[in-house]
Amino acid sequence: MAARKASKVAEIFPPRSTRIIAIANNKGGVGKTTTAMNLAGAFVLKEHKVLAIDLDPQCNASIAFNIIVDANAPGIRHLLVGDRYSLSQCLYDRGPYCDFIPADPDLAELQTQLLIDPKGRSRLREHLQRIIGQYDFVLLDCPPDMGVLTQSALVAAHEVIIPVDVGFFSVAGLARIVSIIDDIRNTYNPDLKIAGVLATKYDPRTTLSETTVSEIRAQRLPMFDTKIRISVDIIRSQMARVPVSIYATESHGAEDYNALAAEILPGKEDRRRLRERIQHGGVQTEAERPRKTCTASSRYERGLEQSAGCESLRARCGPRWIGSVGAGIEPARAA
Ligand SMILES: Nc1ncnc2c1ncn2[C@@H]1O[C@H](COP(=O)(O)OP(=O)(O)O)[C@@H](O)[C@H]1O
Ligand SMILES: [Mg+2]
Repeated sequence: MAARKASKVAEIFPPRSTRIIAIANNKGGVGKTTTAMNLAGAFVLKEHKVLAIDLDPQCNASIAFNIIVDANAPGIRHLLVGDRYSLSQCLYDRGPYCDFIPADPDLAELQTQLLIDPKGRSRLREHLQRIIGQYDFVLLDCPPDMGVLTQSALVAAHEVIIPVDVGFFSVAGLARIVSIIDDIRNTYNPDLKIAGVLATKYDPRTTLSETTVSEIRAQRLPMFDTKIRISVDIIRSQMARVPVSIYATESHGAEDYNALAAEILPGKEDRRRLRERIQHGGVQTEAERPRKTCTASSRYERGLEQSAGCESLRARCGPRWIGSVGAGIEPARAA
C-alpha cells in the first residue's frame, strides 16, 4: 500500500532555498512527465530533496510515481481550490529525498472554477511559499495545454523547462508558450525565467533532430546543452516506475538525465552543499572524489559506483522507493 506521508522527511541539511521548476509545453508527448520523473530520480541520486507534483488530469506522473487517488483524497486539487487539506497532508512519501503530490482524473472539471476564482492561479504559489527551504527542488509536471492548471504552475515557479520533441517537428507552438510566460511574468510572477528549452527524443542518427535544434536556437531561446536522446531504457524504466538513472545506470537515458541534473545544479550550489556536508558529518560525495578521466574502464568503475549508490538508496527506501518497484498500482489510503 502506498503510504501517505505521516510526517516530514527528516532534515538532512540546514534549511536552504528551494528551486521551483515547472515543466511545461502545450503539446502532449514531448517528454514533460518523463522529464519530471527522471530529473527527480537524478536529483535524488545526488541526495537532493525533491517534491514532484502532478498537475495533469491525465495523471501520468501519478501513475509513474504509483500514487492513484480520487478527488476526495489528499492531492493537488485541494491545493488549487481550498483549504480542506494542508500541503503537508497532501504529501506522499516516495522514499528518502522524494515526496509526491498526485493529480486526480477529475481535475479537468476544476478549470472553469479556477478561472473565475480571483485566487485560482495563485493559491498553489501561496502553498509552495510556505515550504520554501524544505526541499531543494519542486518539480511541477504540467498538462499538455497552457490553460489555468499550467498557469498556476507558472505563477508558482521560479523557472520553467520547456521540453521539445526534436525527433518530431514540434517547434511551431514555442512562440505561444513564450508569450504566455511573458504574460505571467507581467502579471503575477516577475521573477519567472525560462531555465531552458530541453531537446527530447533526440536521435543523433537523423538530420531532423539537428534541424529542429537549430530552429530552436534561431528563436534565441535559452537551450540546455544536454539533449535527451531517444532511449528504449527510458520507456522500460517507466514501465517499472523507476527513474532511468536508477533502473539502468549505464544507459544513455541515465547519462542524459544525470547530465541535465548537473547542468541545472550550479557549481556553487554543489560547493555550498559540500561545505554543509563537511560541517554536518563529513560524508564523502561524488564531488569530493578525485576526478577520473573518462576511459572505458573508468566509465565502468563509475557505473559500479553509481550502482552501489543506488543499491544503498534502494535498501534504505524499501518498498517506498519512488514508484515502488514491481508493486503494481495501488490506491493510496485516503485521509
Ligand atoms: N527520450 C525518450 N526516448 C524514448 N521515449 C521517450 C523519451 N521521452 C519520452 N518518451 C516517451 O514518449 C511518450 C510521451 O512522453 P511523456 O513524458 O508522457 O510526454 P508528455 O508528458 O509531454 O505528454 C511516453 O511514452 C514516453 O515513454
Ligand atoms: Mg505528461
